[in-house]
Amino acid sequence: MIPFFDFKSELKEIRPQLEQAFARVFDRGYFILGPELDEFEQKFASYIGSGYAIGTANGTDAIEIALRACGIGQGDEVITAPNTAVPTVSAITATGAVPVFADIKADTYLIDPKSIEQSITAKTKAIIPVHLYGQCSDMDTINAIAAENNIIVIEDCAQAHGAMYKGKKAGSFGAVSAFSFYPTKNLGGYGDGGMIIANNHKIAQICRQLRNYGFVDRYKTVRNGLNSRLDEIQCAFLIVKLDYLDKYNEKRNELAEYYTERLSDISGLELPKIADERSHVFHLYVISTDKRDNLQDYLAQLGVGTLIHYPIPIHLQQAYGYLGYKKGQFPNAEKSCSRILSLPLYPSLARSSQDIVIESIRKFFNA
Ligand SMILES: Cc1ncc(COP(=O)(O)O)c(C=O)c1O
Repeated sequence: MIPFFDFKSELKEIRPQLEQAFARVFDRGYFILGPELDEFEQKFASYIGSGYAIGTANGTDAIEIALRACGIGQGDEVITAPNTAVPTVSAITATGAVPVFADIKADTYLIDPKSIEQSITAKTKAIIPVHLYGQCSDMDTINAIAAENNIIVIEDCAQAHGAMYKGKKAGSFGAVSAFSFYPTKNLGGYGDGGMIIANNHKIAQICRQLRNYGFVDRYKTVRNGLNSRLDEIQCAFLIVKLDYLDKYNEKRNELAEYYTERLSDISGLELPKIADERSHVFHLYVISTDKRDNLQDYLAQLGVGTLIHYPIPIHLQQAYGYLGYKKGQFPNAEKSCSRILSLPLYPSLARSSQDIVIESIRKFFNA
């Protein structure tokens, strides 16, 4: 049995450090907006190499707060990719803004700048490129389009902690960026968590207020805010795990290379493509085939866990039917959703388990 994700094997290496961190928070008796948050915010901002970090309760809130801090709201249009996780879009609608989709590139699954240009209207206020599966979007081209049209760029970095583009980290390109620390992410806590990276002091200040009821001082509010704070216990865990992030991302790359070496000769099977001048952090290793559903069933019978990220593009989801999109509008995104399959890949995945996954796939294709 090879599960899609395995927390227990991950915990083996770091459990004593996590237990110490947990004890430190309990002994101090301070659980919300305390010293662990200050330390983690500083360390994460310095890891990304830019700006101000503001912890939030989750990645969805991080996107919503980022949008609101940039003044985006009722009736504004925000462009993003239709093959993203639902929360990218639910965060947009939470502000009152309207999600507008642009198609993706067929080979990398990342938002296509040409399609972004076609989706811009007089109401477009922001673009949210999603660095899907662990690879940065084409940020130079996207930032140039945004500058030309006076549009804000907010990066969705939920799947790309540590990913690089032209020597700079994901999260350092947009006016604001949002991260998630959902447990399975490359940097994941043991519960929910999120972070905003803002490059501008004023925007950072507004984000800080918005995450805590709009407070500027105790019981004094200046804007209608949320309760969206990253709690001390999660911060203590994340401080421990941040030190392992680069090592774990390297491990993910080694595992990805091994899959690629051993699966690349199979005809009818497409493997992840790393675009120029980027380093991937393989949050997910996503293969693609016309026989996706049969392959997934076959692997399940052999005890190999897989998932699909994601099976339904957002423009065809029932919840967003009111936006009026139709099947066929974003052919690359739609095609990818019917063909993609994510294989088990996490730093503690044993080589012997990976060999079983590889052999099972080869057997399916008679290769
Ligand atoms: C691309 C993307 N955006 C946003 C989110 C939202 O993050 P969270 O689950 O922490 O709210 C996720 C994670 O689920 C994600 O994968």
